[in-house]
Amino acid sequence: MRRYHVTTFGCQMNAHDSERIKGMLEELGLGEATTQDEADVLVFNTCTIREKPDQKFAAHLAQAAAVKRRDPDKVIAVGGCYAEAQRERLFDLYPYVDVAFGPGSIPHLGEWLGAGGLGIARGQFGLQDRTFAGELPMHRERRFQAWVQISMGCNSKCAYCIVPAVRGREVSRRPGDVVAEVTRLAGDGVRELTLLGQNVNSWGRDLAPEIHTDFGELLRACDLVDGIERIRFTSPHPKDFRRPVIEAMAECDAVCEHAHLPLQSGSSRILKAMRRTYNRERYLRLVGELREAIPDLALTTDLIVGFPGETEDDFLETISTVEEVGFDSAFTFVYSPRAGTEAAAMAEQIPEEVKRDRIERLVEVVQRVAAVRNAERVGRVEQVLVESPSRTDPNLLRGRTRRNTTVNFSGAAAAGDLVDVRIEVATSTTLRGVQAVPVAA
Ligand code: 5AD
Ligand code: SF4
Repeated sequence: MRRYHVTTFGCQMNAHDSERIKGMLEELGLGEATTQDEADVLVFNTCTIREKPDQKFAAHLAQAAAVKRRDPDKVIAVGGCYAEAQRERLFDLYPYVDVAFGPGSIPHLGEWLGAGGLGIARGQFGLQDRTFAGELPMHRERRFQAWVQISMGCNSKCAYCIVPAVRGREVSRRPGDVVAEVTRLAGDGVRELTLLGQNVNSWGRDLAPEIHTDFGELLRACDLVDGIERIRFTSPHPKDFRRPVIEAMAECDAVCEHAHLPLQSGSSRILKAMRRTYNRERYLRLVGELREAIPDLALTTDLIVGFPGETEDDFLETISTVEEVGFDSAFTFVYSPRAGTEAAAMAEQIPEEVKRDRIERLVEVVQRVAAVRNAERVGRVEQVLVESPSRTDPNLLRGRTRRNTTVNFSGAAAAGDLVDVRIEVATSTTLRGVQAVPVAA
């Protein structure tokens, strides 16, 4: 049997695309190999959001090149965002790559990487037709959790971001198709869904006028599907977070009390230069509205330091916004210029050592704030979806609360169970507790 190996970089959208890649290859009769050495087809699903994933990929690919030198029959396929961004240079940079394809080409992989060998000329870039992969087979890591793609592409013009250039204009998947997939997944044992899009809350705006819908309605439709106990979504853009979505979050039992709301910067001046189209005040107002409508809401965010022109005062505004909001956690990034984006061409790029200093200070504040938020959970009973044994202690179980915090706990439950856990200890990133014994009926 021919075997494949997929290496994935980047965001949840890419992780989900990799599930489709694996599912398709399996349907074609290939089996999954645990190492590159054992695989006949080596697939890399790449990311190019910052320079770091580019470098990581280059290191991985060098390893694959060594494998291929020993066995020239191996097929190396490179997909995803880096492939798309570098489509003009990819085969010059890496002559041992056989096939490359962008994020919209996954439905064609069967034609190219099938059991019968390579169905495309070596050194060719696969066509890009951007159809939804919703009907394709999918290899899910966990029986009880699933991602569901609701849109592709992004119409925003954030000055730092390469995604619109590689993933194209926003296209929404039709509501009937989304709900049909959710219903199928529920029938298959899925209890927790994560709806995926580059900007989930602008979903629906590009659909035909007679469909007239919005993301709030989509949340409500998914909430009605029997068996779905938790609904998450990522990422919403603060500029499109409107009343109907907040109300749907508040009213739908399955929609979790968590919003990942990328702030990027706390300085209105920098937000303007970033073309985020909201300012600090508007963001804080949205946070207030969300917290008023959804008690106990967890808020997480993305932050960038060192955007061109960022002064110490701008940076301090980011710090003070983090403190004022009290994020439960945050992904923190050093600004990384991406060729072709507006910000990469801006004067006033920030020196590396200033960026380093700012990220260190920011991480410290983020951790301090998160530790305070997590400490507030101690003594409470939280509903946990059990995922697996704990990574650090095999005697403990690991799962996540509705607010998306990881909990390690002692108890007796199986992966996929929903259990109550009494929280006893908190750190800045995780909670620890004991399964609450259900009271006998
Ligand atoms: N440099 C640093 N961080 C970036 N992000 C996007 N583009 C860049 C860049 N060029 C961050 C943003 C976004 C997250 C997915 O990655 O914070 O929300
Ligand atoms: Fe995801 Fe963006 Fe990376 Fe593409 S470039 S994998 S969309 S994070």
